[in-house]
Amino acid sequence: MDLYETIRNRRSIRKYKDREIDDDLIHEIIEAGIWAPSAGNLQSWEVVVVKDPEIKSQLAVACYIREFIAEAPVVLVICAHKRKSSAAYGERGQELYCIQDAACAAQNMLLMIHDLGLGACWNGSFNEESVSALLGIPNGVRPVTIITVGYPDEKPIPPPREDIEDFIHRETY
Ligand SMILES: Cc1cc2nc3c(=O)[nH]c(=O)nc-3n(C[C@H](O)[C@H](O)[C@H](O)COP(=O)(O)O)c2cc1C
Repeated sequence: MDLYETIRNRRSIRKYKDREIDDDLIHEIIEAGIWAPSAGNLQSWEVVVVKDPEIKSQLAVACYIREFIAEAPVVLVICAHKRKSSAAYGERGQELYCIQDAACAAQNMLLMIHDLGLGACWNGSFNEESVSALLGIPNGVRPVTIITVGYPDEKPIPPPREDIEDFIHRETY
């Protein structure tokens, strides 16, 4: 697929077919994340791959009862490794770079998922403490996004975007 086409046609998918995803595809998706840029090439992020129905149900609760999280065949919990980034970059590493590293990796994964004919949704609304406790995520590691993945069972209308001129400031803000 042409890159712009992939970027332009990716949508958040919240309804999935009852079909498993091969581990090879999960591997390809995570590999795409690994090739994202990261501060100092530290790659200060990690991912918890969840397929267990009981854990997915609990994740749906931690996401304030979003049923599609339990229904997705695979859930990727992308975490920022605060300790790794702070060791090199102090507070800026801990508060900013590791989050950016995780977000860059997550976006690469979203595009790869779409390119593979799968669908995904970035879920940012969740109780961090509950997710960390449920998955055994240690101190110094912060869950940043919960990405649900599956074969799409919906074709959403693209939500509108603002006009390009609304984003741009020229020379100064
Ligand atoms: C930081 C962030 C947080 C988001 N949180 C949620 C969420 O909690 N639940 C959800 O259903 N979608 C969530 N989304 C997906 C957005 O709703 C979606 O990307 C946006 O409406 C644009 O639609 P599109 O992805 O189809 O272009 C989130 C996206 C981002 C980048």
